[in-house]
Amino acid sequence: MAGESMIPNKGISEEELFTELEKRLKIDLTFDSGKILGSMCTYPHPLAQKIIQKYIDRNLGDPGLHRGSKEIEEEAVQMLGELLHLKRAYGNIVSGGTEANVLAVRAFRNVSNVEKPELILPESAHFSFLKASDLLKVKLVWADLNRDYSVNVKDVESKITDNTIGIVGIAGTTGLGVVDDIPALSDIAVDYGIPLHIDAAFGGFVIPFAKALGYELPDFDFKLKGVQSITIDPHKMGMAPIPAGGIVFRKKKYMDAINVLAPYLAGGKIFQATITGTRLGANAIAVWALFKHLGFEGYKNVVKEAMENALWFAEQIKRLDRVYLIREPMLNIVSFGSKRLKKIEAELKARGWGISAHRGYIRIVMMPHVKREHLMNFLKDLREILRRV
Ligand SMILES: Cc1ncc(COP(=O)(O)O)c(C=O)c1O
Repeated sequence: MAGESMIPNKGISEEELFTELEKRLKIDLTFDSGKILGSMCTYPHPLAQKIIQKYIDRNLGDPGLHRGSKEIEEEAVQMLGELLHLKRAYGNIVSGGTEANVLAVRAFRNVSNVEKPELILPESAHFSFLKASDLLKVKLVWADLNRDYSVNVKDVESKITDNTIGIVGIAGTTGLGVVDDIPALSDIAVDYGIPLHIDAAFGGFVIPFAKALGYELPDFDFKLKGVQSITIDPHKMGMAPIPAGGIVFRKKKYMDAINVLAPYLAGGKIFQATITGTRLGANAIAVWALFKHLGFEGYKNVVKEAMENALWFAEQIKRLDRVYLIREPMLNIVSFGSKRLKKIEAELKARGWGISAHRGYIRIVMMPHVKREHLMNFLKDLREILRRV
């Protein structure tokens, strides 16, 4: 009723509360419904849920109070580093790929002595770099893509100026899961003495395991000398609960360049590099626990199913009329286009599918919650829709 306070004077019981929440949240799509096919998030691993419940109060913004949690976060960052072929890693478990990318740009800008900083990045880069640009006053210089949607390395090189503070390569683009020619980008970075940041927010928890399974993918990590920082998100293919992103730097100087003194915390003075102050410790603990519990083999099995689903689904799309594959999948993302995309999108949404069309295609992300039967149900609906559009 208009004018009535939303805050009750006398609180309602837990039972009433959950009854209302269940009713209200029914409209949310859930991952276990099998209907969410266009998200890079997934149902968190059950172990992670236990961890969150138990350690929900840990605050990594005040690590003097929660020293054990801070040690665990540092080990989680080391494990990310190990996965990415780095012996000694510097970084944090952060709120997601956006924060990780912002931190990398901030570090590159701060270590450079450039008055009008510019960052060269592929046209396929995630919109988080727009936020970084706005926040940090760094001009974005967009590099063209090749016909296969990877960045055109020659174009990147041609755009280097005295103002360039860094180059971005992508290991798993948001739209198509494309991995750029990062060895070539690294060579340029070394030649020109410019740091290279890799946005592996999605691909970071896929490529190492896919390579171990025998899939041929370019090197993308700290094996390559030019790579100075990597975004890698546990809350995507790492199956950690939201929010859990990862930023890993090769050198301490990048962390030093973004550390801010927090002088008044209950646990004592510390330096914070993250954008967030108060931040969940439980999620960093969950990242650590999942590495220990699943091990390399556990993650490899998750990626095996996801890659097999992607290749299978791509073949099914090729057999359909009126839709076409945008490109052969490199990772576990399959995107298809159509002349009638808007109509197809609307009809799929009306049938409850969690997908979206963007840049002229619909992308299906084979997350761990996406099973073959869900894809079969989707294809059944798609075939029916295609007969009518
Ligand atoms: C390649 C890439 N980078 C960064 C991000 C941003 O991650 P987040 O939404 O966790 O901030 C995404 C999200 O989809 C992404 O695909």
